[in-house]
Amino acid sequence: MKKLLPAALAATLFAVLPAAHADTLKMACNISGAMKPYCEHVKQRFESETPHKLEFIEMPAASDEKLALYQQIFAAKDGGAVDVLSVDVIWVGLLDKHLYDLTDKVKDLEPAFFPNNWKNNVVNGRVKAVPGQLDAGMLYYRKDLLEKYKEQPPKTWEEMARIATKIQKAERDAGLKNMWGLVFQGKAYEGLSCDVLEWVASYNGGTFVDPAGNVTVNNPKAAKALNTAASWVGTIAPKGVMGYQEEESRAVFQNGDAVFMRNWPYAYLLTQDKSSPVKGKVGVAPIPMGGEDGQHAATLGGWQWAVSAYSKNPEAGAKLVRILSDAETQKRAFLLLGIPPARMESYQDAEVQAKAPYLAEFKDVFANAVPRPSTPTRSQFPKVSKAVFNAGYDVLSGRATGEQAVADLEDKLKRIKGREWK
Ligand code: GLC
Repeated sequence: MKKLLPAALAATLFAVLPAAHADTLKMACNISGAMKPYCEHVKQRFESETPHKLEFIEMPAASDEKLALYQQIFAAKDGGAVDVLSVDVIWVGLLDKHLYDLTDKVKDLEPAFFPNNWKNNVVNGRVKAVPGQLDAGMLYYRKDLLEKYKEQPPKTWEEMARIATKIQKAERDAGLKNMWGLVFQGKAYEGLSCDVLEWVASYNGGTFVDPAGNVTVNNPKAAKALNTAASWVGTIAPKGVMGYQEEESRAVFQNGDAVFMRNWPYAYLLTQDKSSPVKGKVGVAPIPMGGEDGQHAATLGGWQWAVSAYSKNPEAGAKLVRILSDAETQKRAFLLLGIPPARMESYQDAEVQAKAPYLAEFKDVFANAVPRPSTPTRSQFPKVSKAVFNAGYDVLSGRATGEQAVADLEDKLKRIKGREWK
């Protein structure tokens, strides 16, 4: 009997259950791309531990495009489109009524997760999602180039720009004509809102809207942050950054063509792949401060697992969420894809630490990351974020100064707010 594995035992038991109990669930997982081994692993576990089958649906890359698709599905109350989905950290309040109440199925899991992340997923006392992946912005740098030019990882944006200018010039003079100082996410989409928040918050310019719901963006520090970022475009950053999402930035950095890159933690393991030209040459530092009086401000990101309120089998969906958020799957997601676990214990795991030594040091960065103002702006957050990334884009492209952009943004945000955020 000892040899009988739990999965095998489950399979035997389910074989005798009536077929009517078996459903096919749909989960958002891009099986046609890099996610494939992960999606397959989850399918194998779900199908061996429950009587059900699992299929996948593909989603667009950009967070705001994903949201638009889910909103269409939910507006149609379509129970056949998706059962289990991954929800950006900024959407839980907004999608609340479309998410199945998981409280009774998952509340025992709470102590395993970072407290703020868990709290983010509780709306009116009900648990609507379980953390799957923790994200915080960080500055990647080329260790080898910093050593070669006798520089330390920059503490401020000003130092970053100085080092980037120096190394870009020297490397170009030495024949590397494609070398750039910095790449980041400059396209007009949710990712740019994350970068803009880091610039503005790092200069102590706030978070556009404060936790009490007041519009705070029209201030000289926010304007200075935007002007500083605009000064990088076309000098130390290619003009093309204005079309970059995360993956375009990684492509340039991983190809060896940039000294610094702003990105999320997922990029680390990929840059360390055996096929990567920068394997062994990459370091990671906190997002720089805006001047000596500024602060290190990493935008809080991350993805949560949730069940659609329209799912025909939410109980099975909840079982899948438990599998997706358990220690084994989260570790697997990290080892396969570099996705940082949301469980606190994973950061103590020797295998995880060995693959990404920076993670242990970054526990504080994760714990103190700056949230986008999705809680105070409630269902209006997508409009707020769109106004923010459009303002950022206008300054980066030279169509507005930082000062004009923050004044316009204040007007827009106040108009979106009306009397109160709802
Ligand atoms: C990452 C973050 C997510 C953010 C997105 C923006 O996926 O986890 O929170 O919205 O990037 O591109």
